Amino acid sequence: MNEDAPLKSFVIAVDGPAASGKGTIATGLGKAFSLPVLDTGLLYRCVGVLVKKAGESLDDEGSAAAAAALLTADQLDDPALRTRAAGELASRVAVHPRVRDALLDFQRTFARQEGGAVLDGRDIGTVIAPDASAKLFVTASPEVRAERRWKQLKAQGERVSLKDVLADIRRRDARDGGRDAAPMKPAADAALLDTSEMTIDHAADAARRIVEAARAKWLSSQ
Ligand code: CDP
Repeated sequence: MNEDAPLKSFVIAVDGPAASGKGTIATGLGKAFSLPVLDTGLLYRCVGVLVKKAGESLDDEGSAAAAAALLTADQLDDPALRTRAAGELASRVAVHPRVRDALLDFQRTFARQEGGAVLDGRDIGTVIAPDASAKLFVTASPEVRAERRWKQLKAQGERVSLKDVLADIRRRDARDGGRDAAPMKPAADAALLDTSEMTIDHAADAARRIVEAARAKWLSSQ
């Protein structure tokens, strides 16, 4: 397969910072448009967890890239990947260019499947699928995101203070946005969706309307 060939199917890129609502929005778009969804954060979470389990340093690019190269889809269902600790490990290994390179094919193959796909992450609209037909960059204030993530973690049975979750979010924003390799940023042609003042249902509706408009444009160009 020519990895650089233009995308012919309908691909939706959903990017944004931690707990912005992008995961729920991506799932809703997958249902609305009958497309499979890939939460690309799980790939980085899985690499981080594997490196930690192996007792290697998260700063060791070679070990992390080797773990990334061996990753398979069936490893992504592990609930341990959804923890607070896994999010931090993910962001640590995600700074390594060789890790990102090793995960590129998996993501591009998913994006190029017949019919199309929805991918959510940090660099979908900029690096993984720059010619995606619909691009969203979902944001919310750090305080709102911290509150959402705190409630989510509590529901998962994790005991953590809101203050610590806010500190996690700020640290991760700085690391993800400040790294050299595929930093988190909106694609020039992404629609920005600030969900700070929205319920998640309202945000999902707003996202669907944006994508419906992009789909009409895409269909007329086929
Ligand atoms: O769910 P949440 O938004 O907290 O995080 P996630 O989407 O599971 O991503 C975890 C970490 O993986 C992020 O903080 C990024 O460092 C990294 N990541 C990335 O670099 N590129 C992606 N496409 C997805 C995640």
